Amino acid sequence: MTEKPTAIVVLISGSGSNLQAIIDAVVQGDINGQISAVISDVPDAYGLTRAKQADIPAIAVTPKDYADKAAFNRALSDTVAHYQPDLIVLAGFMRILDSAFVKQYHGHMINIHPSLLPKYRGLDTYRRALEAGDQQHGVTVHFVSDELDGGPMIAQTAFPVEPGDTEESLQQRGQAQEHILYPNVIRWFCDGRLQLADDGHVYLDGERVPC
Ligand code: GAR
Repeated sequence: MTEKPTAIVVLISGSGSNLQAIIDAVVQGDINGQISAVISDVPDAYGLTRAKQADIPAIAVTPKDYADKAAFNRALSDTVAHYQPDLIVLAGFMRILDSAFVKQYHGHMINIHPSLLPKYRGLDTYRRALEAGDQQHGVTVHFVSDELDGGPMIAQTAFPVEPGDTEESLQQRGQAQEHILYPNVIRWFCDGRLQLADDGHVYLDGERVPC
Protein backbone atom coordinates (compact mmCIF):
# COMPACT_ATOMS: atom_id res chain seq x y z
CA MET A 1 0.00 0.00 0.00
CA THR A 2 1.29 3.51 -0.77
CA GLU A 3 1.93 5.63 2.32
CA LYS A 4 0.89 9.07 1.16
CA PRO A 5 -2.81 9.41 0.33
CA THR A 6 -3.34 9.73 -3.41
CA ALA A 7 -4.39 13.25 -4.42
CA ILE A 8 -7.59 12.90 -6.43
CA VAL A 9 -9.30 15.56 -8.53
CA VAL A 10 -12.82 14.73 -9.68
CA LEU A 11 -14.32 16.34 -12.79
CA ILE A 12 -18.11 16.41 -13.06
CA SER A 13 -20.88 18.01 -15.10
CA GLY A 14 -24.00 16.87 -13.32
CA SER A 15 -25.65 15.36 -10.30
CA GLY A 16 -22.49 13.76 -8.95
CA SER A 17 -23.97 10.52 -7.64
CA ASN A 18 -20.69 8.77 -8.50
CA LEU A 19 -18.80 11.58 -6.80
CA GLN A 20 -20.93 10.95 -3.70
CA ALA A 21 -20.07 7.25 -3.74
CA ILE A 22 -16.38 8.17 -3.95
CA ILE A 23 -16.65 10.76 -1.16
CA ASP A 24 -18.39 8.16 1.03
CA ALA A 25 -15.69 5.57 0.33
CA VAL A 26 -12.94 8.06 1.22
CA VAL A 27 -14.74 9.10 4.42
CA GLN A 28 -15.19 5.45 5.41
CA GLY A 29 -11.46 4.87 4.90
CA ASP A 30 -12.02 2.46 2.00
CA ILE A 31 -9.85 4.55 -0.32
CA ASN A 32 -6.30 5.58 0.59
CA GLY A 33 -6.73 8.95 -1.07
CA GLN A 34 -8.04 12.41 -0.56
CA ILE A 35 -10.23 14.40 -2.89
CA SER A 36 -8.30 17.63 -3.35
CA ALA A 37 -10.93 19.33 -5.51
CA VAL A 38 -14.11 18.83 -7.50
CA ILE A 39 -14.22 20.80 -10.74
CA SER A 40 -17.26 21.26 -12.96
CA ASP A 41 -17.81 22.81 -16.37
CA VAL A 42 -21.44 23.40 -15.33
CA PRO A 43 -21.65 26.04 -12.59
CA ASP A 44 -24.92 24.83 -11.04
CA ALA A 45 -24.10 21.12 -11.17
CA TYR A 46 -25.42 19.46 -8.02
CA GLY A 47 -22.11 17.64 -7.65
CA LEU A 48 -20.51 20.97 -6.62
CA THR A 49 -23.01 21.18 -3.74
CA ARG A 50 -22.11 17.64 -2.70
CA ALA A 51 -18.42 18.64 -2.68
CA LYS A 52 -19.07 21.73 -0.55
CA GLN A 53 -21.12 19.66 1.89
CA ALA A 54 -18.08 17.40 2.27
CA ASP A 55 -15.72 20.40 2.74
CA ILE A 56 -13.96 19.74 -0.55
CA PRO A 57 -12.95 22.72 -2.73
CA ALA A 58 -15.65 23.00 -5.42
CA ILE A 59 -14.74 24.99 -8.49
CA ALA A 60 -16.67 25.85 -11.64
CA VAL A 61 -14.71 26.43 -14.83
CA THR A 62 -17.39 27.49 -17.26
CA PRO A 63 -16.79 27.68 -21.03
CA LYS A 64 -18.87 30.83 -21.47
CA ASP A 65 -16.46 32.72 -19.22
CA TYR A 66 -13.66 32.23 -21.77
CA ALA A 67 -13.06 33.74 -25.18
CA ASP A 68 -12.72 30.40 -26.95
CA LYS A 69 -12.22 26.71 -26.49
CA ALA A 70 -8.44 27.01 -26.19
CA ALA A 71 -8.76 29.55 -23.36
CA PHE A 72 -11.27 27.32 -21.57
CA ASN A 73 -8.98 24.30 -21.96
CA ARG A 74 -6.07 26.30 -20.54
CA ALA A 75 -8.15 27.42 -17.55
CA LEU A 76 -9.34 23.89 -16.88
CA SER A 77 -5.84 22.52 -17.18
CA ASP A 78 -4.40 25.23 -14.86
CA THR A 79 -7.14 24.65 -12.29
CA VAL A 80 -6.50 20.91 -12.24
CA ALA A 81 -2.70 21.38 -12.14
CA HIS A 82 -3.02 23.65 -9.10
CA TYR A 83 -4.09 20.58 -7.08
CA GLN A 84 -1.21 18.40 -8.38
CA PRO A 85 -3.38 15.30 -8.73
CA ASP A 86 -2.02 11.77 -8.77
CA LEU A 87 -5.36 10.67 -10.20
CA ILE A 88 -8.07 12.48 -12.16
CA VAL A 89 -11.49 10.87 -11.95
CA LEU A 90 -14.05 11.74 -14.62
CA ALA A 91 -17.42 11.19 -12.99
CA GLY A 92 -20.05 12.23 -15.50
CA PHE A 93 -17.81 14.92 -17.04
CA MET A 94 -19.58 15.43 -20.36
CA ARG A 95 -16.96 17.34 -22.31
CA ILE A 96 -14.22 16.12 -24.60
CA LEU A 97 -10.85 16.94 -23.10
CA ASP A 98 -8.12 18.49 -25.15
CA SER A 99 -5.43 16.08 -26.29
CA ALA A 100 -2.51 17.84 -24.53
CA PHE A 101 -4.39 17.42 -21.25
CA VAL A 102 -5.12 13.75 -21.97
CA LYS A 103 -1.45 13.19 -22.77
CA GLN A 104 -0.26 14.98 -19.64
CA TYR A 105 -2.31 12.68 -17.39
CA HIS A 106 -1.79 9.47 -19.38
CA GLY A 107 -2.22 6.57 -16.96
CA HIS A 108 -3.50 8.92 -14.28
CA MET A 109 -7.00 9.68 -15.55
CA ILE A 110 -9.99 7.33 -15.51
CA ASN A 111 -13.59 7.52 -16.71
CA ILE A 112 -16.80 5.63 -16.05
CA HIS A 113 -19.13 4.95 -18.94
CA PRO A 114 -22.65 3.49 -18.85
CA SER A 115 -22.20 0.60 -21.30
CA LEU A 116 -20.22 -2.55 -21.84
CA LEU A 117 -17.53 -0.88 -23.95
CA PRO A 118 -16.61 -1.13 -26.78
CA LYS A 119 -20.39 -1.23 -27.29
CA TYR A 120 -22.19 2.12 -27.25
CA ARG A 121 -19.56 4.79 -26.96
CA GLY A 122 -21.05 8.28 -26.61
CA LEU A 123 -24.52 9.19 -25.44
CA ASP A 124 -27.91 7.50 -24.90
CA THR A 125 -26.40 4.13 -24.06
CA TYR A 126 -29.47 2.82 -22.21
CA ARG A 127 -31.82 3.71 -25.05
CA ARG A 128 -29.50 2.14 -27.62
CA ALA A 129 -29.24 -1.10 -25.61
CA LEU A 130 -33.04 -1.31 -25.33
CA GLU A 131 -33.55 -0.58 -29.03
CA ALA A 132 -31.04 -3.29 -29.93
CA GLY A 133 -32.89 -5.80 -27.75
CA ASP A 134 -29.75 -6.55 -25.74
CA GLN A 135 -30.05 -9.27 -23.09
CA GLN A 136 -27.49 -7.58 -20.90
CA HIS A 137 -26.11 -4.13 -20.28
CA GLY A 138 -23.40 -2.82 -18.01
CA VAL A 139 -20.87 -0.23 -17.01
CA THR A 140 -17.15 0.18 -17.73
CA VAL A 141 -14.26 1.97 -16.07
CA HIS A 142 -11.30 2.73 -18.33
CA PHE A 143 -8.16 4.83 -18.56
CA VAL A 144 -8.73 7.93 -20.66
CA SER A 145 -7.16 8.17 -24.09
CA ASP A 146 -7.70 10.50 -27.04
CA GLU A 147 -10.38 8.21 -28.38
CA LEU A 148 -13.83 9.04 -26.94
CA ASP A 149 -14.80 6.28 -24.47
CA GLY A 150 -12.06 4.23 -26.11
CA GLY A 151 -9.16 4.05 -23.64
CA PRO A 152 -7.80 0.84 -22.13
CA MET A 153 -10.44 -0.90 -20.07
CA ILE A 154 -9.96 -1.61 -16.37
CA ALA A 155 -13.19 -3.28 -15.21
CA GLN A 156 -16.78 -3.88 -16.22
CA THR A 157 -19.96 -4.94 -14.45
CA ALA A 158 -22.74 -6.53 -16.51
CA PHE A 159 -26.35 -6.97 -15.47
CA PRO A 160 -29.38 -8.48 -17.21
CA VAL A 161 -31.90 -6.39 -19.12
CA GLU A 162 -35.30 -7.43 -17.69
CA PRO A 163 -38.59 -7.57 -19.61
CA GLY A 164 -40.34 -4.23 -19.20
CA ASP A 165 -37.13 -2.32 -18.53
CA THR A 166 -37.18 1.34 -19.49
CA GLU A 167 -34.29 3.76 -19.95
CA GLU A 168 -34.95 4.97 -16.42
CA SER A 169 -34.99 1.53 -14.80
CA LEU A 170 -31.85 0.48 -16.65
CA GLN A 171 -30.11 3.69 -15.68
CA GLN A 172 -31.09 3.21 -12.06
CA ARG A 173 -29.61 -0.30 -11.97
CA GLY A 174 -26.58 0.81 -13.98
CA GLN A 175 -25.84 3.66 -11.60
CA ALA A 176 -26.19 1.37 -8.59
CA GLN A 177 -23.47 -0.78 -10.18
CA GLU A 178 -21.34 2.28 -10.96
CA HIS A 179 -21.45 3.33 -7.31
CA ILE A 180 -19.86 -0.01 -6.36
CA LEU A 181 -17.42 -0.37 -9.26
CA TYR A 182 -15.92 3.12 -9.38
CA PRO A 183 -14.84 3.35 -5.71
CA ASN A 184 -13.35 -0.15 -6.05
CA VAL A 185 -11.24 0.80 -9.06
CA ILE A 186 -10.12 4.01 -7.34
CA ARG A 187 -9.13 1.99 -4.26
CA TRP A 188 -6.98 -0.31 -6.43
CA PHE A 189 -5.26 2.70 -8.01
CA CYS A 190 -4.65 4.39 -4.66
CA ASP A 191 -3.20 1.16 -3.23
CA GLY A 192 -0.72 1.02 -6.11
CA ARG A 193 -2.32 -2.15 -7.47
CA LEU A 194 -3.47 -0.75 -10.82
CA GLN A 195 -1.26 0.51 -13.66
CA LEU A 196 -1.48 1.44 -17.30
CA ALA A 197 1.87 0.07 -18.49
CA ASP A 198 4.09 1.26 -21.34
CA ASP A 199 2.87 -1.71 -23.41
CA GLY A 200 -0.58 -0.05 -23.43
CA HIS A 201 -2.14 -2.78 -21.28
CA VAL A 202 -3.73 -2.48 -17.88
CA TYR A 203 -2.29 -4.48 -14.98
CA LEU A 204 -3.97 -5.26 -11.67
CA ASP A 205 -1.74 -6.86 -9.04
CA GLY A 206 0.80 -7.49 -11.80
CA GLU A 207 -1.70 -9.49 -13.90
CA ARG A 208 -2.80 -8.20 -17.27
CA VAL A 209 -6.49 -7.23 -17.17
CA PRO A 210 -8.21 -9.31 -19.85
CA CYS A 211 -10.92 -6.89 -20.99
C1 GAR B 1 -22.88 8.33 -14.99
O1 GAR B 1 -23.89 7.40 -15.09
C2 GAR B 1 -21.77 8.04 -15.97
O2 GAR B 1 -21.70 6.72 -16.35
C3 GAR B 1 -22.13 8.90 -17.15
O3 GAR B 1 -22.70 10.06 -16.60
C4 GAR B 1 -23.38 9.71 -15.41
C5 GAR B 1 -23.11 10.76 -14.36
O4 GAR B 1 -23.93 10.55 -13.25
N1 GAR B 1 -20.96 9.21 -17.93
C6 GAR B 1 -20.92 9.22 -19.25
O5 GAR B 1 -21.89 9.03 -19.95
C7 GAR B 1 -19.55 9.51 -19.84
N2 GAR B 1 -19.47 9.13 -21.20
P1 GAR B 1 -23.58 11.21 -11.86
O6 GAR B 1 -23.33 12.71 -12.13
O7 GAR B 1 -24.82 11.02 -11.04
O8 GAR B 1 -22.38 10.53 -11.29
